[in-house]
Amino acid sequence: MRDMTAPKDFNDRMLSLGLARVSEAAAHASALLIGRGDEKAADQAAVNAMRDQLNMLDIKGVVVIGEGERDEAPMLFIGEEVGTGQGPEVDIALDPLEGTTLTAKDMPNALTVIAMAPRGTLLHAPDVYMDKLAIGPGYPVDVVSLDMSPAERVRALAAARGCKESDITVCILERPRHEDMIAEVRETGAAIRLITDGDVAGVIHCAEAELTGIDMYMGSGGAPEGVLAAAALKCMGGQMWGRLLFRNDDEKGRARKAGITDLDRIYARDDLVTADVIFAATGVTNGSIVAGVKREPGYLQTETILMRSKTGSVRRMIYRNPVK
Ligand code: FBP
Repeated sequence: MRDMTAPKDFNDRMLSLGLARVSEAAAHASALLIGRGDEKAADQAAVNAMRDQLNMLDIKGVVVIGEGERDEAPMLFIGEEVGTGQGPEVDIALDPLEGTTLTAKDMPNALTVIAMAPRGTLLHAPDVYMDKLAIGPGYPVDVVSLDMSPAERVRALAAARGCKESDITVCILERPRHEDMIAEVRETGAAIRLITDGDVAGVIHCAEAELTGIDMYMGSGGAPEGVLAAAALKCMGGQMWGRLLFRNDDEKGRARKAGITDLDRIYARDDLVTADVIFAATGVTNGSIVAGVKREPGYLQTETILMRSKTGSVRRMIYRNPVK
């Protein structure tokens, strides 16, 4: 007889389809809040829908990257148990609405994002900044690094690609803290795609450089978003590195609470996500990775990208559903 207490396998093949439904539901829920100037309402709608769908999956899930600590996030908080409790033990990383401002202002590349992996294999990143660097597949290992200056990275990538520095496009979040980085990259002659928000999408862009025109992502953004981006790149191919950045002792305390002892560590992609992972993202507003929600009379349509690192498979799925 089957031992019902034995840990169940992480059957990512079947679970991935369920994961796509979770990100689709969050995008559908936030659809009516696109361009309405209300970031909180859009985020809340996505959170509610994501949680409802997640709790239908046959998993024993724990949110390791979520909406925040239990006392600041009423739902999908870090440590929240999700799923029916009937399936495999898994870690969940999620961002029900990555780009709340992008959604509120109807600007490109807002996504709903979720990743799932066996228990204990996703970095429990605290809610601090992370210095990030990412490139797409096909380059030698460690061709660029976080220890290089921005200009050195551009030169190294151009040499590896066999092109001029001016043929490289770098994606960077437009923030005052990135002014020096932006100036240095411009000095090399490289182009810069400045984004106002949404660095998960920024990193993913590198994996499809021919489609998106972006060769490299650099700069600091949320550490939780860094883990989600690493999960996507692990499925699509590409290299990524991240180093946590701390502005004060409270942030260091958050890291220690999350079990991190080496605060200066540089994490490679596979240190952020140490085992096979599945990843789903649905477009909320139009973007270069997936289309945004389309509203037709009586219907909503979404596009979801669903990927598994075990096989490297990438599916794009269109979902059309009547509006209730
Ligand atoms: P939200 O969707 O939570 O608003 O996050 C958007 C985002 O742009 C992330 O993609 C990025 O990692 C982070 O905010 C950057 O933080 P900051 O706005 O503080 O520079």
